[in-house]
Amino acid sequence: AAIVEHTLNVKNLTVERLCNRHVITAVNGSYPGPTIRVNEGDTLVVHVLNNSPHNITIHWHGIFQLLSGWADGPAYVTQCAIRPKHSYTYRFTITGQEGTLWWHAHSSVLRATVYGALLIRPRRSYNYPFLKPYKEVPILLGEWWNDDVVELEDKVTSTGEGFPPSDAFTINGLPGNLYNCSQNRMFSLKVMQGKTYLLRIINAAVNTELFFKIANHKFTVVAVDAGYINPYVTDVIVIAPGQTADALFTADQPVGSYYMAASPYITQAVPFEDTPTRGLVVYGGSSNSAAPLMPSMPAFNDTPTAHKFYTNITSLPTKFNPHWHSCPLSVDEHMFITFSLNLEPCPENTTCLGFFGQKLSASMNNESFVVPNGRGMSMLEAFFNGASGVYTADFPDKPPLEFDYTNQNLSFDQSLLFAPKSTKVKKLKFNSTVEIVLQNTALLGIENHPIHIHGMNFYVLAQGFGNYNATRDEAKFNLVNPQMRNTIAVPVGGWAVVRFKAKNPGIWLVHCHFDVHLPWGMTMAFEIENGPTPSSTLPPPPADLPKC
Ligand code: C2O
Ligand code: CU
Repeated sequence: AAIVEHTLNVKNLTVERLCNRHVITAVNGSYPGPTIRVNEGDTLVVHVLNNSPHNITIHWHGIFQLLSGWADGPAYVTQCAIRPKHSYTYRFTITGQEGTLWWHAHSSVLRATVYGALLIRPRRSYNYPFLKPYKEVPILLGEWWNDDVVELEDKVTSTGEGFPPSDAFTINGLPGNLYNCSQNRMFSLKVMQGKTYLLRIINAAVNTELFFKIANHKFTVVAVDAGYINPYVTDVIVIAPGQTADALFTADQPVGSYYMAASPYITQAVPFEDTPTRGLVVYGGSSNSAAPLMPSMPAFNDTPTAHKFYTNITSLPTKFNPHWHSCPLSVDEHMFITFSLNLEPCPENTTCLGFFGQKLSASMNNESFVVPNGRGMSMLEAFFNGASGVYTADFPDKPPLEFDYTNQNLSFDQSLLFAPKSTKVKKLKFNSTVEIVLQNTALLGIENHPIHIHGMNFYVLAQGFGNYNATRDEAKFNLVNPQMRNTIAVPVGGWAVVRFKAKNPGIWLVHCHFDVHLPWGMTMAFEIENGPTPSSTLPPPPADLPKC
């Protein structure tokens, strides 16, 4: 195993897209930021220099951070933000995961432009559980706004309205030629006929789940969220914000040009940009005269296609994957979590533009999570020091009765929409097994919320539509080779059951990866107790941990 060292210099960058030129926050002068490559077992040391005007942190999305919670990154959860002109070094070892992950800013909406790929290859002298591809290609799907995203966020926070839809989707930062002024701003991949490529696909979009296709080509998906899966052949990849997919494709078509494209999967009638972003796959030796073929994209609300993709993925058995651990069969803690959009009272003498003239908000189990900015220290420091006043340990195991939407008809009562604000965690014993029913039924805002858990993967035992019913649905659990994820798009108007072992001491955020829902409070956190030995105890923070 090696030590891999990088410097991420966060600073302003002037970028032009859609005939609009403005200053964004970016890393090392590139948008998206640099790709970081490691082998499983390596230790990554990343110096983050904040030369931007904003407070910032970097999160290593999907990295287990075993005993290295100080490097996880969510602002005020595991660290205070890095202030302008300050720096912090993230240091962690990558064990037990291979495939594609990514890094992104985890303070305000900066992750719209501050993100990059994190590729984890097998340990030296180990192989992929599939034939070595000819080339590996990061595909980062994103969203672009013509306005400054931080200014936009400040504006919608004060008015309480929703975040406006993006102006374009992007592939590797480029919108592609269906958008204005983007003829030459299109990602292009040169391929050789007969060769096989490994696409490392990341959904870095801020608020949109996506379909991804290449005209006339099929994919073999071999990993999701940096865990190998049984090879799954499909012509469409479905990917929610936060998720990744490693997909092989062979250039097995006649020499020519083919579009790759990503289009939105939107499960609610909200305004959205529906123009697909596209890039090119160009075969070497093609004359370039014929117009490239465009894949036919699924309709924006094609839930059957999304459900088919998500339910066809199973973990690859142990013999090909030395780090695969079988799913725990007994459960110590049962939780039932609902999530909802909510309202927050509009302050006096203010005009609010959320529903019913109030501000928009969100919750889990009717608790609207407040990130504890301004309490002197992060939650993880409070955990380490045993300090009180930063958070409390009374997050409910299930919603209060009137918010258990599965037990009652949804009679709409506006007063039920105001969820209390709190910073509550659920305390877990070291090594306990936790099962969570995620129920996506609410008074407001039923969408495929992509729920992300920091610091671990979880097994997805089953998912379905309607209300979860234990007696009926436990029979559907896959306890043999369930897919492992760090982010799950809980089916719209449906449910998913996930299970994990709490073996990593610290504070681990759980939140919707639609970036607008996180600050609204569709968030909670786990506090996992230290284990019995020094090697199962969170070590002290690094000396350069930013101060609040
Ligand atoms: Cu990718 Cu808490 O986020
Ligand atoms: Cu959400």
